[in-house]
Amino acid sequence: MAGTSNPDVTPGGVPAILFDASAIADAVARLAAAIARDLAGEPVTLIGVLKGALFLTADIARALPAKTDVRIDFVTVSSYGNAAFSSGEVRLLKDTTESVEGKNVVIVEDIVDNGLTLAYLQGLLGARRPATLRSCVLLDKPYRRLTPVAVDYTGLTAPDAFIVGYGLDYQEKYRHLPYLARLEDRVSAG
Ligand code: IMP
Repeated sequence: MAGTSNPDVTPGGVPAILFDASAIADAVARLAAAIARDLAGEPVTLIGVLKGALFLTADIARALPAKTDVRIDFVTVSSYGNAAFSSGEVRLLKDTTESVEGKNVVIVEDIVDNGLTLAYLQGLLGARRPATLRSCVLLDKPYRRLTPVAVDYTGLTAPDAFIVGYGLDYQEKYRHLPYLARLEDRVSAG
């Protein structure tokens, strides 16, 4: 039951939908198709960036052809602390469990904002001699870059707003929303 005592849900409402579940599903299907095309049947290791790419990694993996040799690994990085802005510092909190040497690696990231997180991960994993290293992001804010970074697969271009849902959080909240929403815009809780 929706708790009327929850200050994040009432009376301010919940963040308003920016991209609904169907728009996310379409973007995921496009991303997976492009990854599969470039793999041309070769094995792939998806490296999801926790926690934000939790659902994206799961959905991309399941959208790849069943006959593809798909491995899934995760890293955890921290760059924002609990703030809605970047501290500019990227820290590796959890490394991959498997070696990436000689593998076709695709980094799966929820959103690229200033580019520091993805640039850091590309440097870290690229130094480990993968066969190929590509990057797949659901949301891109290209106009916010502080560091130029190559993104091979982009799902959606995001407006200049703080976005939550489908894995993305604000102070660890809202990851569970099945859609992408603007934190600043509120609608009545449903
Ligand atoms: P970057 O290093 O600035 O490119 O930021 C990448 C990371 O910042 C993402 O993996 C997210 O965790 C976080 N981030 C950037 N923009 C947003 C946003 O609009 N909502 C939620 N998290 C964000």
